[in-house]
Amino acid sequence: MIERPRRLRATPALRRLTAETRLHPAELILPMFVREGTREAAPISSMPGVVQHSLDSFRAALNEAAELGIGGVMLFGVPEGKDAIGSGATDPNGILNVATRTAIAEVGDALVVQTDLCLDEFTDHGHCGVLAADGSVDNDASLLRYRDMALAQAEAGSHLLGLSGMMDGQVAAVRDALDGAGFEGTPTLGYAAKYASAFYGPFREAVQSSLVGDRRSYQMDPANRREGSREIDLDVLEGADVVMVKPAMSYLDVLADAADRSPVPVWAYQVSGEYAMIEAAAANGWIDRRRAVEESVLSIRRAGADAVLTYFAVELAGWLR
Ligand code: PBG
Repeated sequence: MIERPRRLRATPALRRLTAETRLHPAELILPMFVREGTREAAPISSMPGVVQHSLDSFRAALNEAAELGIGGVMLFGVPEGKDAIGSGATDPNGILNVATRTAIAEVGDALVVQTDLCLDEFTDHGHCGVLAADGSVDNDASLLRYRDMALAQAEAGSHLLGLSGMMDGQVAAVRDALDGAGFEGTPTLGYAAKYASAFYGPFREAVQSSLVGDRRSYQMDPANRREGSREIDLDVLEGADVVMVKPAMSYLDVLADAADRSPVPVWAYQVSGEYAMIEAAAANGWIDRRRAVEESVLSIRRAGADAVLTYFAVELAGWLR
């Protein structure tokens, strides 16, 4: 026997030297929820350890994230009121835009402050866009709302707009609106290959979603891999500065394809259900929590993600220091 791969696995030092993938705090992004009209942080039962922040607890958490050297934060707003067109999303005093200005003032130099550009937290029907008379999600009417939402977020100072609505043409529409208003320098993150996933379950609690039904008429079918590549290509053509695959762990093939073909950075989102599964198994003593967290994020990096959105970002960054 000449080939003995075990030779390089013999000691911790050899394994460290030959590791093909490494984690670093700078490539971790923490999703955060900020709730309107609350004084104290509120726990999210399906996501132990994750909270809906008040503006005060949000400031403290931002500073902790900055101290640990993570790459950025992705902000979601939980508004007090909702309506059919998601007015809170475009209101400069809407919770997400207020949270964005707060984050920019607090940690704007240390972290890339990113914002979710989607209507679902703000609509009373819970869909990512506005509805047509027949109740379907109206793609092109939703683009008009996204244009206005993009301007509100850019004006609030967002460093990167996370286009997660899965409307066709959303990257081009937002790019055009930004460029027309002097925001040529504001980049976009296209949630290019976003699948209609059961793993978003806990997120619906986190943002108190009013959705009845599902998002299968606009988010992708989990059966489709080739279509994932098509969505990546389209977002790049429309001018996305970064593209995303979401969820992460059940879509590592799609992620590897994206990493192969994309000329722009490819990120992946380890979503709420992925977080909840690890937490639940660990709470039962069924898996080693820290090892499972590290292995899960490492696998997403290994498959090709340049950066990872994960609810473990700050804790993981602490371990990596
Ligand atoms: C849409 C959005 C969702 C998530 C991120 N952006 C919900 C959805 O598409 O249903 C899910 C993130 C997670 O599950 O952690 N605003």
